[in-house]
Amino acid sequence: MKKLWGGRFSKTTDQLVEDFHSSISFDQRLYKEDIEGSIAHARMLGAQGIISEEESHLIINGLSELLDEIAAGKVEFDQKSEDIHMNIESLLTDKIGDAGKKLHTGRSRNDQVALDVRLNLLREMEEIQDLLRALMEALLTVAEKNVQTVLPGYTHLQRAQPINFAHHMMAYFEMFYRDYQRLLDTAKRTSVSPLGSGAMAGTTFPLDRERVKEELGMQEISRNSLDAVSDRDFIIEFTSFASITMMHLSRLSEEIIFWSSQEAAFIELDDAYSTGSSIMPQKKNPDVAELVRGKTGRVYGNLMQILTVMKGLPLAYNKDMQEDKESLFDTVDTLKKCLLVYAPMLTTMRIREDNMLDAAKKGYTNATDLADYLVYKGLPFRDAHEVSGKLVAYGIAEGKELDQMTMSEFKSFSEMIEEDIYQAIDVRTCVEKRDLPGATGFTKTKEAIIEAKIIIESL
Ligand code: ARG
Repeated sequence: MKKLWGGRFSKTTDQLVEDFHSSISFDQRLYKEDIEGSIAHARMLGAQGIISEEESHLIINGLSELLDEIAAGKVEFDQKSEDIHMNIESLLTDKIGDAGKKLHTGRSRNDQVALDVRLNLLREMEEIQDLLRALMEALLTVAEKNVQTVLPGYTHLQRAQPINFAHHMMAYFEMFYRDYQRLLDTAKRTSVSPLGSGAMAGTTFPLDRERVKEELGMQEISRNSLDAVSDRDFIIEFTSFASITMMHLSRLSEEIIFWSSQEAAFIELDDAYSTGSSIMPQKKNPDVAELVRGKTGRVYGNLMQILTVMKGLPLAYNKDMQEDKESLFDTVDTLKKCLLVYAPMLTTMRIREDNMLDAAKKGYTNATDLADYLVYKGLPFRDAHEVSGKLVAYGIAEGKELDQMTMSEFKSFSEMIEEDIYQAIDVRTCVEKRDLPGATGFTKTKEAIIEAKIIIESL
């Protein structure tokens, strides 16, 4: 079969090269956007009188038919046609004859591929937006049911202070809300039409770039043709966003894995969202969370890959850039799968409130509150810290928690401690009293949930 670019060649391409440089196996994923972009281009060529209106209609109808045929699985792509752009152009010319040969007037595959990937990614971003919103809603659902659920908060994975589980869930809400905003911001810079940049210098034909942009629903036209055909920042930004989102999912996964261990036993994952062992009959494993944690590495790898592909490239287009697609598609697919499975895993997990509360009561998580109690009684904080620390050391030696100590034990450390200490160091009081904006107090958590619902509604 004759190459669309065959004119200056006297030999056929070696089969090894054919296999090596062809991208149709993966860029066929762009067929919709490729046709969409070509339709907008052809309509504009007709309106500008660069081709006749009749030719423009022939092309548009031919492309629309092709779109249906490809969607119905009736089209087999040809590896010799290299990529999706040339496959579609050849198929179009087979279908409608000579008019098909005019489609590429004033266009290059360099501006064409940049457009296709942008349009495709914008579409995927909308789906990812929905998935992120669903995940944020799932976190809110769990939070709403667990405002009164007290568990230990950790620093250094050592029990630190009591918090409520809703507050913990809402911390992740914040992270995914930031991710959501990052995604929207990236979308702005992705919604730029490069068509009209040609191979790299622009084109001699009187194209109407604005019209094409409008038809494609994009926000801007690119301002520099060299940049337009060689910019892949939007892919790097998206993959960075995806990496950060995966990092957040991975952190939550780590917690879920810990919480569902027998050592913590804070949650039990639903049977539908966990798996067993082929040898150990008793096992119920948090595989979903582990796989998400594992797939995070894969998305980071994709980020490193595209950064490295781009780092040495002079202006403008270089074939290296064909390597932008597989990792991008992999990132999109991986992130979507992870987000999709995560929300129902969260909403179906069983919260083992009693175990959480038991853990919160052990490990001296109320030692800060004991110190604070003494501060309210008039002791400087540093001295109060010292008294509380000594009580903890005594407790560890005696095998007693702070709330198990007698009044005379307390008094032997500080005369300032009175009967009201028991109320002050109750773990529920410890949560309750943290009543500043952003803190774990029950009332403040409820307010935070209301605020988060307003945020969700605005997305
Ligand atoms: N398949 C190519 C890619 O993905 C399309 C652009 C080819 N342009 C060229 N001048 N070879 O990058």
